[in-house]
Amino acid sequence: DKGTYPYYMLKEVDEQAVVARNLSAHYFDEEGNVQGIGCGITDSIKEADRLYIVAAGTSYHAGLVGKRYFEQWAGIPTEVHIASEFAYDQPMLSKKPFFIFLSQSGETADSREVLDNIKRQGFPALTIANVMNSTLTREADFALPVLAGPEIAVASTKAYTAQIIVQAILAYALGDVDLDLKAELAKVAVEISAITDDKDCFKKIADEDLKGQKSAFYIGRGLDAAVALEAALKLKEISYIQTEGFAAGELKHGTISLIEDGTPVFALLTQAKTAGLLRGEVAQVAARGANTIVISSKSLAKEGDAYVLPEVNELLMPLLAVIPAQLIAYYATLARGLDVDRPRNLAKSVTVQ
Ligand code: F6R
Repeated sequence: DKGTYPYYMLKEVDEQAVVARNLSAHYFDEEGNVQGIGCGITDSIKEADRLYIVAAGTSYHAGLVGKRYFEQWAGIPTEVHIASEFAYDQPMLSKKPFFIFLSQSGETADSREVLDNIKRQGFPALTIANVMNSTLTREADFALPVLAGPEIAVASTKAYTAQIIVQAILAYALGDVDLDLKAELAKVAVEISAITDDKDCFKKIADEDLKGQKSAFYIGRGLDAAVALEAALKLKEISYIQTEGFAAGELKHGTISLIEDGTPVFALLTQAKTAGLLRGEVAQVAARGANTIVISSKSLAKEGDAYVLPEVNELLMPLLAVIPAQLIAYYATLARGLDVDRPRNLAKSVTVQ
């Protein structure tokens, strides 16, 4: 039930703060220790020499973020693969691989194909899914719930942030990092609400910067490049504005020739190490006529930025940086008079290969 919301997508965007809190309540005890992840899972992962995350679409994008947690917090080399590619072009694997399937529906045919393949090869697998008791959760050795609640809008929002949180908690449980993740996630929940309260601001950006536009770009570096892919997918899949998500440093190797007078270029700027370089890339596209819209985090913000995000642990910034993109996509689609929840040609669960 959408309640007073005009579209499920808006409701689901707003639910993200509650989902973050529910995940904390489920996966942490009073003292902030991880619970609810059986030692079968952690022992099996600790035996592995490499993690392979396999997923499609938005869930693949969540995996690109999760990779950083497994590498930086748990110290395990991690690869992220598109299920439809891995299924028919399996890369060379390490000696002791462990597979993680990410899926909202748990029914994505491409991911199921990979799970079948790797089970035949005898490798262990964990599915992290929103719909438990789905094919992917039943057929993997282990399963963990994403607890986002039913996601009805075709464009995935809360399942993305929830998948990122579950990966963060799992990596945290595997590693030994000097961080109070429970406290950090409490902050994340508060700041997600603060951002979703700024809807007017994102409506204004959509109305002013995307009106009449046929194409757009999202750029970023590092984790922001991962979020740029998801931000671009959200905008293009529902508004039909052709949008590319791009690693900012790669623009100069070709794509920058697409920049025309007025082309909207959104820059996500939340990673300190590369903020200076990204500012340079914003200036380069602006010099070629782009309309640059910078979404930065508080300590990296400069005058003229379109939106300043509150700050949490830098590795958790994707959980905040994606929210403006979800809302900008929503309002751009609304302004075009399109059905936000049901974009053409798409199904909520892709059960064909
Ligand atoms: C985009 C979207 C899709 C799904 C993809 C995988 O908003 O929802 O890209 O993420 O089809 O689906 P699941 O996560 O159900 O495996």
